[in-house]
Amino acid sequence: MFRTQGSELVMGAMLALTIEAILDFAGQRRGHFRLIACEVVSHDGYGTPRELFIAFFGVIRDTLRDLLGDEWSPQIAQTWDRLLTEIDAFAGVPA
Ligand code: HEM
Repeated sequence: MFRTQGSELVMGAMLALTIEAILDFAGQRRGHFRLIACEVVSHDGYGTPRELFIAFFGVIRDTLRDLLGDEWSPQIAQTWDRLLTEIDAFAGVPA
């Protein structure tokens, strides 16, 4: 669903922008975080359902957990859980 042809650049940019948006959302909320709500709508047009779009943030969390190994703590897990819930609410599209 990320497209198969000529998509590496788009996938890399998507990941980089998603990480920037997460950091901004969790931090100062200066502007990058707004991408999340915008893109949930444009992805609807690409055929990416909202649930799948949101699941991408969970995949990033899981990947970080795997990378951190022993350094992953219950507190980090809790903070991520809260963050993912907030992102889900923020990206909610009114019916
Ligand atoms: C499973 C989750 C996702 C899928 C399957 C997906 C899929 C896609 C597809 C098919 C495109 C169009 C590529 C093209 O034009 O060739 C795209 C573009 C893009 N995606 Fe994603 N995406 C996902 C998650 C995200 C997330 C979480 C973000 C950021 C919050 C994001 C940001 C973007 C951006 C910035 C573009 C460039 C075009 C635009 O502005 O809409 N994507 N994505």
